[in-house]
Amino acid sequence: MKWTRRELLRAGGGAAAGLALPHFETGCARGRPQPRLLASGISLPKPFEVALPIIPVLKPVSADATTDFYELDARPAKLEIVPGLSTGIWGYNGIFPGPTIEARHGRRVAVHLRNQLPVPIVTHLHGGHTAPESDGYPTDLVLPASYTPSHMHDPRARRTQEQRDYLYLNDQRAATLWYHDHRMDFTAPQVWRGLAGFYIIRDDEEAQLPLPRGDKEIALLICDRSFQADGSFLYPSLDPSLRERPGVTGEYMGGVLGDVILVNGAPWPKLEVANTRYRFRILNASNARRYELALDPSPSGGAPFVQIGSDGGLLAAPIRQRTIKMAPAERFDLIVDFSKYRLGSTVTLLNKASSGATGQIMRFQVTREERDPSAIPPQLSRLSFPNASDVVATRDFKFAFRDMDRGWLINGKSYDPVRMDAQPKLDSTEIWRLETDFNHPLHLHLVHFQVLSHSGRPGPYDAGWKDTVDLGPGQTANILVRFGGHRGRYVFHCHNLEHEDMAMMGNFEVV
Ligand code: C2O
Ligand code: CU
Ligand code: CU
Repeated sequence: MKWTRRELLRAGGGAAAGLALPHFETGCARGRPQPRLLASGISLPKPFEVALPIIPVLKPVSADATTDFYELDARPAKLEIVPGLSTGIWGYNGIFPGPTIEARHGRRVAVHLRNQLPVPIVTHLHGGHTAPESDGYPTDLVLPASYTPSHMHDPRARRTQEQRDYLYLNDQRAATLWYHDHRMDFTAPQVWRGLAGFYIIRDDEEAQLPLPRGDKEIALLICDRSFQADGSFLYPSLDPSLRERPGVTGEYMGGVLGDVILVNGAPWPKLEVANTRYRFRILNASNARRYELALDPSPSGGAPFVQIGSDGGLLAAPIRQRTIKMAPAERFDLIVDFSKYRLGSTVTLLNKASSGATGQIMRFQVTREERDPSAIPPQLSRLSFPNASDVVATRDFKFAFRDMDRGWLINGKSYDPVRMDAQPKLDSTEIWRLETDFNHPLHLHLVHFQVLSHSGRPGPYDAGWKDTVDLGPGQTANILVRFGGHRGRYVFHCHNLEHEDMAMMGNFEVV
């Protein structure tokens, strides 16, 4: 069966005749569907029982003078995520989160990806300054051995069978990146099943700083999931085989929220810490859930978090933050100083954006005393943003819901790989004026940008180099972007993955 996007959205939106779909209690009548909680069929695991998993770092299979070579197999696996239950995942090397790739500035990383899943995949390095052929364009499918989808309508797609090589140049500053699936129309369910992992770039500038390191530097991938009674992941796909027909049942068109919070793949985990500073590289890898991080109790004398970095690496100077609001795909590099707590204290990482079980994330127990050689320097890095006087073009993009038939649009249009929405010149600087009707975390591939204004001044979480900016209902943001590095075709999109799959994506081509 061949589905056009309009038919798909119509089926997904529930307006098609002959489809038994639930009626909408979601506010579609009021205009646009909200992200909606998907209730698990299990009794939720008790929080703070499971130890925080530390994500393994992937070892290169070989190296030469310029490049480290890695192998990643996307394959099905069974994991015990909820104690006593077995969950089938789709994971890079069979784990979830996928293994962390650690790269050095100036040394290239080559990833040989093999697809052992029953569906096409595409891997994108989020935050990478990557040449177009390795960026993971949504139609650059790595097809499985067994199956070729019927609807592929992009003459420029670079499809391969079973495997593909990605080359990452790492000619960019130290930063916390992540890699994840990016298959057109199916990103949300494929990431939900486990296709996401960290990619950390290190450089000398950062290595010279006295920041917490070693076991005091921990990457935390936070996401929400729901589970069926048998332990498998629950997701409201119209076609759970994820082969031909994309989309979710209409009431989840605004985004899918899980009722179990996972950190590094474990539900509400706990971590024993020393009474020292820790550096947490935090990624919101959720499809649609936004968090507001807080510590309970809040330490006496000052803000609980010192933010040292954002999507694109270190800030110029640390920023003290009481809470951290995080939209999907954003990264925050945070220092927490556990010396502010008495030995034996229990400290809970809360999510103030929610209540009940999803209002909690994980727990720290301050169990041991250690000398702390770390410090937070008042100057972290020198950031050289493009000059506003170099701007050669200004573009306007409006991100808004249309209706249950047409879904989420940019300037009134659905994503179409064939249409080009902007053609910035190589090495030119532009201002993009972004406007939203609703919460949309907006992301550009290839570049990092500076948020010049965010419904007024830059927001409290806009500092540094960003690749994703979180806009609320009716907000506008001006971002300053330099399109350096590579010519070619890239996407920009909302990183609420259900919005992305339901067409809130556009193309730009650097010419
Ligand atoms: Cu994190 Cu286009 O993606
Ligand atoms: Cu990206
Ligand atoms: Cu959105």
